[in-house]
Amino acid sequence: MEKLWIFDTTLRDGEQVPGCQLNTREKIVVAQALESLGVDVIEAGFPISSPGDFNSVVEISKAVSNPIICALSRAVEKDIEVAADALKYAKKARIHTGIGVSPYHIHHKLRSTPEAVIERAVQAVKFAKRYVEDVEFYAEDAGRSENEYLARIVEAAIKAGATVVNIPDTTGYCLPEQYADKIRFLKENVRNIDQAIIATHCHNDLGMATANTIAGVQHGARQVEVTMNGIGERAGNTSLEEVVMAIKCHQSIPVQTSIQTPKIYETSRLVSKLMNMPVQPNKAIVGRNAFAHSSGIHQDGVLKHRENYEIMDPQEVGVEESSIVLTARSGRAALKHHLELLGFICEGEKLEKIYQDFLQLADVKRDIGRKDLYQLLGEYVDESGF
Ligand code: KIV
Ligand code: ZN
Repeated sequence: MEKLWIFDTTLRDGEQVPGCQLNTREKIVVAQALESLGVDVIEAGFPISSPGDFNSVVEISKAVSNPIICALSRAVEKDIEVAADALKYAKKARIHTGIGVSPYHIHHKLRSTPEAVIERAVQAVKFAKRYVEDVEFYAEDAGRSENEYLARIVEAAIKAGATVVNIPDTTGYCLPEQYADKIRFLKENVRNIDQAIIATHCHNDLGMATANTIAGVQHGARQVEVTMNGIGERAGNTSLEEVVMAIKCHQSIPVQTSIQTPKIYETSRLVSKLMNMPVQPNKAIVGRNAFAHSSGIHQDGVLKHRENYEIMDPQEVGVEESSIVLTARSGRAALKHHLELLGFICEGEKLEKIYQDFLQLADVKRDIGRKDLYQLLGEYVDESGF
């Protein structure tokens, strides 16, 4: 099993989301939680962007020991100098620098030429190398770039000293096959590719971020850039919990991560609370309904054998247990199960009677809780001395 590096950018790409801003103290709390979760790299901020962000990178560098601390910069000397300064207390420091490589970015954003962009990339990597050994190069909007051109700039960045080459699908445009092809193309056509780690960095505009990331890993990427709960620009970034659990569930993918998966749920809640960003109920792995079974057929199946409808044990991600929710779609097995939890064993005709009353109530009330069950049981308890 090869190592898959987990690069967490919750505090940089995630924190850019309107309303998600954190102060330095809160960022330290998140960084420490990420460290205890077991991430390998924390992208702590974009130091040139504001004094607050600079200060957060400084304080996170002091507060965290194990993960590499990474700071973002554009391919601009001043940015790189400030990033290096912010990282001065990091035990392991990385500068993440780069430039746009798609025709859109080269012509309409940078108003430059393909050759000049390669030159700027090379100069930026060389400049960052003056300060730190570990320099990651990002080829922004690689998802919409020409593969031949991407290969040229990646090769030049590695030659200039890049230790990691990041291939972002900045606009979330790629289909999994296209993204996989890009990584495969780089593996086959960049002569010095074995001197660097290829990183995925996918956005979720078409809901493909996790699929694209996994496709990238299957074709040779060995670092994934992710955020907790998938927060990030627009529709978000690839979510850490989805990638980590997809890899854990599919042993055919020959990599392993150092994530302590039982800490996933608590980390997700912490990020959601501090960033004031609710997690959608049906979010994979960490959503409220991720382990809730509500239809009669599923409830019956899961009560007979958990794995009939669960591909992972909820405890593997820190959720105590799955739940059997009582609604008008629930069957007798679920009702029986809940009555047993309350200490009432009931079967046959008695169960049938209570079930019919239950359906009447559930049709008018969305969720049925303990109180409702006691109410339903009321008359039967007296009659039969349950
Ligand atoms: O999405 C992107 O391209 C980025 C880069 C700055 C790495 O976030
Ligand atoms: Zn991004």
